[in-house]
Parts: sequence; structure tokens; C-alpha cells
Amino acid sequence: MSSAQHSVTVMGLGPMGRAMAAALLDRGYAVTVWNRTASRADDLVARGAALAPNPADAVAANEVVILSLTDYAAVRAVLEPAAPALGGRVLLNLTSATPEEARAGAHWAAGYGAVQLTGGVNSPPSGIGQPESSTFYSGPREVFDRHRAVLEALTGRAEHHGEDPGRAALLYQLGVGMFWTAMLGYWQAVALARANGLTAADFLPHADDTANSLPQFFAFYADRIDAGVHVGDVDRLAMGMASVEHVLQTNADAGVDTALPAAVVDLFRRGMEAGHGADSFSALVELLAKPGK
Ligand SMILES: NC(=O)c1ccc[n+]([C@@H]2O[C@H](COP(=O)([O-])OP(=O)(O)OC[C@H]3O[C@@H](n4cnc5c(N)ncnc54)[C@H](OP(=O)(O)O)[C@@H]3O)[C@@H](O)[C@H]2O)c1
Repeated sequence: MSSAQHSVTVMGLGPMGRAMAAALLDRGYAVTVWNRTASRADDLVARGAALAPNPADAVAANEVVILSLTDYAAVRAVLEPAAPALGGRVLLNLTSATPEEARAGAHWAAGYGAVQLTGGVNSPPSGIGQPESSTFYSGPREVFDRHRAVLEALTGRAEHHGEDPGRAALLYQLGVGMFWTAMLGYWQAVALARANGLTAADFLPHADDTANSLPQFFAFYADRIDAGVHVGDVDRLAMGMASVEHVLQTNADAGVDTALPAAVVDLFRRGMEAGHGADSFSALVELLAKPGK
């Protein structure tokens, strides 16, 4: 490990930034931290981290600066006053962003002589420092390779996905979009279970079975979707339409909020109106991709 890699700054000490700083301390890195609310650094300072008094000093302390903030507006708010210190810095920006924001952020940093490696962390804070956890990165390959030891200290798997700084943000948003939607489906089911006298724990085995069945559907439909084939040989949208209406009605009968199941019914109805009733429900991909057509 080079000395450059052995010393790192972490800016943003929410649950994620704190886990990252702790994982780096565990591995013997010299860590400088900065956070708007300084008290969040107390535990890290007790473990040997240096607390920078302001963002400019935090940036000046190390070549590698990890950014773990709520969004890119926060990144800008933090870095703009520190801009003169950015020359020669590598910004590991692990802050959630749209691909466009990530590209604009990289461009902005380049204007001050800094390089951004965009990261999308596929793990909750509890997975930081774990070998099986992964992060998508995009940006200069040379920077990724040079700082690989730091990246692998954060999550055991560090994946480089090309030079476009927006690509890691895109991959992250793909996964996180599925995550939020799936978890909302789970909350809805728990609410319905509860309205019918079942606890979340009662429902858990069935919820697990349902979730564990999904990868086989992804695998089955992926090749067909890429080939533009939505043949209704194993399922028909019309069948799905009846099913999602039963889900909606079951929620309504139980007095549970129907916003989410009603939105699902609406999408299926639009597929029916577009003439896909005899096709597989995978035809909804075409509707989602080109909503006006
Ligand atoms: N937590 C997760 O499970 C998870 C998983 C994957 C990815 N991520 C991503 O990782 C990033 C950090 O996550 P987190 O859970 O630690 O986020 P968080 O709870 O939102 O905290 C992020 C940090 O941003 C700082 N901040 C927000 N607005 C600011 C501003 N205007 N100026 C200065 N500082 C500001 C907060 O400072 P204060 O302490 O002063 O409020 C805090 O240190 C996010 O982009 C998140 O989407 C999180």
C-alpha cells in the first residue's frame, strides 16, 4: 500500500460516512474527518481520527477525499468554499445522484483540478468493510486502479464500469429504484396482513418465498425482452389485470391505503388499452420505456 493510499479524508458523517471512516480506521488508515455537525465525529476522534475544522482543511489534508453526503446540493455547499484546495485531489464521491448530476459534478471538480470517481454503494452501513459488499465506480480507470486498496477497504468488491462519471450513478439508481419499489410493495403487504390480524413475523416466510422467486422471473424474461418478444405463452397481461384488481380490492376491503395497488392497476390498464391483453405482462416494459406510444 502506498503512503498516498494510507491517508484519507472522509466528509459527511451520516451513518454511511461514519461506517466508512470506521472501516478505514480498522484497516490502519490515517483518517481526517469533517462534518457539518461536528459532534458526529466524536466516536471517530476517540478512535484516532483527526477532525478538520472546516472543509478546506479537510480537503487539503489528503489526496483522497471521500464524499458521503445526502445529495450533490450538499456536496456543492460543502466543496464550494473549499474549491481553492481541490487541485490534485481525488474525490471519491459516494453520494447518491442522478447520472447528469454526477457528470456535472465531475466537470465542476475538473475545473478546479480535481478528479471525481463516482461511486454507488450497494450496501447499507452495516455492510461497509465487508468482503461481500460491492460498489459501482465510474471515472478514470487509472484513478480507480491507483486507489483500489482504499476502495476495497470500503466494500470488498469494487467494480469499475467505465470512464463516464454518470455510469456508476445510473447503475446505482437502477438497483435502488428496484429496492424502494420492492420494499414499498413489502410495506403494503405488511399493512394488509396487519389489517387482517397477521403480524409481519407471521407473514415473513411467505414474503421470503415470494422475494426469492423473483430472480427466476428476471432470468426467464431478460432474453425475451432483449429480443422484443412478449409472447403470452406462460402469462397474459389480461390474466395479470384480473389479479392486480383482486389485490386492489383486497386492500380496499381491509381499509388499507390503495395508492400503490391502484397505481399498479393503472399501469396494467394502460397495457390493456395499448392492445397487449394477449401478450405477456413483460410488454409493460415497452409502455414504460415509451409512455406516449
Ligand atoms: N444509509 C444507507 O443505507 C445508504 C446506502 C447506500 C447509499 N447511501 C448513500 O450514501 C450517502 C450518505 O448516506 P447517509 O445515510 O450517511 O446519509 P445522511 O443521513 O443523509 O447523512 C449524510 C451527511 O450529509 C450531511 N449534509 C446533508 N446536507 C448537508 C449540507 N447542506 N451541508 C453540509 N452537510 C450536509 C449531513 O450532515 P449533518 O450530520 O450535519 O446533518 C450528514 O453528515 C447518501 O447519498 C445515500 O443515498 C446510503
